[in-house]
Amino acid sequence: MPDSSQLFQQIGPDVKLGRDVRIFGFTNLYGCEIGDEVKIGTFVEIQKGVRIGNRCKISSHTFICEGVTLEDGVFVGHNVTFINDRYPRATNGDDALQTEADWECVPTWVGRGASIGSGATLLCGITVGERAVIGAGSVVTKDVPSGAVVAGNPARVLKLHEERVQTTRSAGGRLVASASPD
Ligand SMILES: CC(C)(COP(=O)(O)OP(=O)(O)OC[C@H]1O[C@@H](n2cnc3c(N)ncnc32)[C@H](O)[C@@H]1OP(=O)(O)O)[C@@H](O)C(=O)NCCC(=O)NCCS
Repeated sequence: MPDSSQLFQQIGPDVKLGRDVRIFGFTNLYGCEIGDEVKIGTFVEIQKGVRIGNRCKISSHTFICEGVTLEDGVFVGHNVTFINDRYPRATNGDDALQTEADWECVPTWVGRGASIGSGATLLCGITVGERAVIGAGSVVTKDVPSGAVVAGNPARVLKLHEERVQTTRSAGGRLVASASPD
């Protein structure tokens, strides 16, 4: 007999679940791959082709679309939205409803140990570096360097908290970050 939260889960037969994954109620997962010991909160949707590494935490009300990869240990706050289509349209020029053949899925990659604050939106084609932190409510429009803390709309670097990220100041005094070579 499933517990009450399982009664309201929709987990497709094509979902690959790792060991000790915890999934709460009112979730919708299909065609995705979830690593070991991942925790998925209520009202989360994870679409096909998504790959989530081990020991990630996905908080409630978050939407993870096709094209997203989260490496191990990524924290995703509440109500985070990923995007995979920069210019979405419902229909084609002839008014016919668009199908999968009519648009290109643009991927997003989030590095190991990164954290994404609640209410953040990540535009597509973005790389979030390892252990970066994205502030609550941010709109991320560009790549985030490893170890950087970014926030705002559009998200800007607030600070850098790892040595391997080098900083310089532009002529205008704005903080500019670039990851140093390994
Ligand atoms: C981004 C964040 C990590 C920065 O924390 P912090 O290092 O303690 O930064 P501070 O609070 O000292 O703020 C530094 C500046 O950034 C601004 N700032 C902080 N967070 C911000 C955010 N999310 N969006 C916009 N600006 C933000 C502050 O107003 C401050 O601006 P000022 O220098 O002009 O006064 C944190 O504010 C945050 O958003 N964390 C995410 C929390 C979250 O979503 N958790 C989810 C589970 S509960």
